[in-house]
Amino acid sequence: MRKGIILAGGAGSRLLPLTFAVTKQLLPIYDKPMIYYPLSTLLDLGINDILLISTEDDKSQFKKLLGDGSNFGIKLSYETQKRPNGIAEGLIIGEKFLSNHPCVFILGDNLFVGSMSQYKFRKEIENKKGATIFTYKVNDPQRYGIVTLNKKSKPLNITEKPKQPTSNNAITGIYFYDNNAVQIAKTLKPSSRNELEITDINQNYLNNNLLRVMVLDNDITWLDAGTISSFYEASNMISVIEKRTGKKIGCLEELAYLQNKISLKDLIKSRNRYGSSDYGFYLQKIIENHVKLGPKIE
Ligand code: DAU
Repeated sequence: MRKGIILAGGAGSRLLPLTFAVTKQLLPIYDKPMIYYPLSTLLDLGINDILLISTEDDKSQFKKLLGDGSNFGIKLSYETQKRPNGIAEGLIIGEKFLSNHPCVFILGDNLFVGSMSQYKFRKEIENKKGATIFTYKVNDPQRYGIVTLNKKSKPLNITEKPKQPTSNNAITGIYFYDNNAVQIAKTLKPSSRNELEITDINQNYLNNNLLRVMVLDNDITWLDAGTISSFYEASNMISVIEKRTGKKIGCLEELAYLQNKISLKDLIKSRNRYGSSDYGFYLQKIIENHVKLGPKIE
């Protein structure tokens, strides 16, 4: 069984002054806090046991928002990262929680719009040995970790934020790791920017011929909301899609209900938390549909 880790610490320095008092992952992306989106991706992938890593200061805020996960039919635990020592440190912090399980590791400012649980990615969830990373074509590869692929889509090399990129395949912030990732993280040395780099974990799997690369195509849109312009672009995009389709993206209770993780009674209880917000009325509609037409109406 794969467990999930969401990394939601960091300094958020690219969003200052927005992040002086509020952590990036609690800022709104259109109608819900940013953290709802990566959490919904884990729910969609069927992950039920999830660790959220944040700074000590922000932990109580996340707990206030998400509780123990029972509202979404999952088990949610919390750990602290004392300083932003790098993304790969999240694996070391998660060692006890993982207790030798494979995991899906996701960054708290990454949004995947579209279902990651579609057939071709589901296979990867079952794939236990090695690591899988997911790439997305971008026109600003300097901002990301990038991977160069050969003609058969096999990875040749990986670089973190290259000044002169050799490809435009950005490595997105979702990683499927086997149970060796923690031990690999423990062998890493800090990079020149003094961080334990997630790219070095992926490089290790690549060196051992254990890295698979899946290309995200048109079915999924990937957004990293870590800069001020991408933050607003993400909000605009979610707003446009939700208004056009009438369906919410990243609605945790809806996903939990559709997956039978919570009952109708639980859903009604959750709905009451959301008062007279759009989100609350959306849950209300799901409940009314259930009563009228029976469960599992999409
Ligand atoms: O978004 C995908 C990119 O994420 C990848 O392409 C890069 O390879 C990867 O290094 C990362 O790059 P970023 O520059 O976007 O990482 P950032 O420092 O913004 O951190 C991403 C998330 O992880 C953010 O939600 C904050 C959190 N974080 C980051 C660090 C360095 C932590 O919780 N602790 C940390 O120590």
